[in-house]
Amino acid sequence: MRAIITGASSGIGAALARELARRGWDIALLARRGDLLEAISKELPTKSIALPCDVTDANAVRDAVRQGETALGGPFDLAIANAGVGVPSHAAKFVLADAELMTKVNLLGMFNLFDAVIPSMIERRAGRFMGIASMAGLRGLPTSSVYSATKAAMQSFLEASRVELRPYGVGVTTVNPGFVITPMTEKNRFKMPFLMKVDDAARVIADGLERGKRVVEFPRPMSLIMRLARLIPDAIWDRATMPYARRKIDVGKARR
Ligand SMILES: NC(=O)c1ccc[n+]([C@@H]2O[C@H](COP(=O)([O-])OP(=O)(O)OC[C@H]3O[C@@H](n4cnc5c(N)ncnc54)[C@H](OP(=O)(O)O)[C@@H]3O)[C@@H](O)[C@H]2O)c1
Repeated sequence: MRAIITGASSGIGAALARELARRGWDIALLARRGDLLEAISKELPTKSIALPCDVTDANAVRDAVRQGETALGGPFDLAIANAGVGVPSHAAKFVLADAELMTKVNLLGMFNLFDAVIPSMIERRAGRFMGIASMAGLRGLPTSSVYSATKAAMQSFLEASRVELRPYGVGVTTVNPGFVITPMTEKNRFKMPFLMKVDDAARVIADGLERGKRVVEFPRPMSLIMRLARLIPDAIWDRATMPYARRKIDVGKARR
């Protein structure tokens, strides 16, 4: 079985590559930092290939997918859109360049991978597409407004695609992690509730994948809180989250 993972050079993507390889998958690792991908590829016990590539470039993603298929000996059974950027945003200090970056990497990056792998999955009546969204997409979170928006868009797209692709034998899984220790969250200065280790997160995702789950959401206490948060009236939500809107944040410092 062959999998391609975007954003495999660090954090959840790298941990997932290791976890899936441990479970016997051959892995194509895609991200911009080729040196990191090569190092991870060398560690993996199964066949693997490093594919240095920017997910915002549709042609480059298509070429990388073809290169990965050739190297690993056939089309992908699993594609994981994991590459993502998360930087603070605030409506009163809006930085269009940050919003553009998050939209391009998180959302367009997922579409680029989808476009490159889905036709072959439909033709074969087999395969699974997985998107790493976030619990941040379940409600609009002050100081993460743009990030929340990209993750909510991912969730909507994946949910509808899951139904649309079912007659073609192609599965779709949405993954909504809570807080996981990775380079993305290491810079957060606030207390992150129910913070998880990245290897534990990778195990939960791989278990969900093996069970063919529609949605993998973890950790459970955080999931219960966010599901409850979706049900409370807007006026209560506004009052509860107002202190977060006043939090001091650095904007405009995203790595491009
Ligand atoms: N950590 C959390 O608490 C958490 C919670 C919920 C959801 N998530 C989601 O999980 C995913 C992985 O995040 P992480 O926490 O593991 O963060 P991370 O360690 O910063 O990983 C982000 C990955 O995305 C890649 N990436 C960024 N821009 C890219 C681009 N233009 N083209 C290709 N690859 C690109 C990075 O690789 P290069 O820089 O080498 O390109 C890196 O491998 C993200 O979608 C994130 O939103 C994380």
